[in-house]
Amino acid sequence: MPDLSPLHPPLTTWYRHNARTLPWRNPDCDAWAVLVSEIMLQQTPVQRVVPVWQSWLERWPSPTALAADSPGEAVRMWGKLGYPRRALRLHAAAVECDSRFAGHVPDNYGDLRSLPGIGDYTAAAVLAFAYGKRALVLDTNVRRVLARVLDGTEFARPSVTTAERDRAEAVLPDNDTAAALWSIALMELGALVCTSSSPTCDMCPVAANCRWLAAGKPSYDGPARTVQRFAGTDRQVRGRLLDVVRGTDSAVPKSALDIVWPDAVQRERALDSLVSDGLLDPLPDGTYALPK
Ligand code: ADE
Repeated sequence: MPDLSPLHPPLTTWYRHNARTLPWRNPDCDAWAVLVSEIMLQQTPVQRVVPVWQSWLERWPSPTALAADSPGEAVRMWGKLGYPRRALRLHAAAVECDSRFAGHVPDNYGDLRSLPGIGDYTAAAVLAFAYGKRALVLDTNVRRVLARVLDGTEFARPSVTTAERDRAEAVLPDNDTAAALWSIALMELGALVCTSSSPTCDMCPVAANCRWLAAGKPSYDGPARTVQRFAGTDRQVRGRLLDVVRGTDSAVPKSALDIVWPDAVQRERALDSLVSDGLLDPLPDGTYALPK
């Protein structure tokens, strides 16, 4: 295992001077605010998340507040963040926090993982960023930075291997506060400097210790990485259909949905999938509404 101790001071100093001021990093944010941010940020860029996160927390400042509202309202507030099943899962998680954890977001890994939609990454992120605990936070940015610095490869593999976890665990500082700072600093370095397609290595605080840079930045030659398309996909059609229902307080007739996409086969498939995901309720009179 390489000795990473020389990386810590430059990385954390860089973070202190360069980190973006993001609202969920305010020390006043509680674990609920952090949990909401982490779920929203998983597949959506920071700039799009900020306004939705703010409105969400104004309306539902606690899990109990959200649990008292309907899942459909969560879907409505989700707006255009995409992957709207996240809104339903966040609502379901709020219901569980309310009923099983006295309205609090749990502060241990097992209880966090028992909540709907909370996977390994989200549980670790809440432990580190909300509770300041030592937890292995392995998001795409952290994985890419570690792959470059430690392994000398341009990108991490498509999915996390045990060896990768062990290696990331071995370089995570022992102390709670230092570990949380290390994780957020790596994440920020990946977002701002060690980016996927145009890393600015001359700005990097750990360039002197980077195996990838030392090797002349060789191109990735591992298993294929998936790229998310959007235009023309069922995901785009689902977004259009849901926008129609989200934009009104009443149920909408099928004719209002039929006009948003010309290909009827694809449109019906998208509509069926929204219904089976629980994002839309088909009502007996043939109209569609957000779930109650
Ligand atoms: N701060 C904490 N978690 C974050 C994330 N997932 N993306 C951006 N900033 C963050």
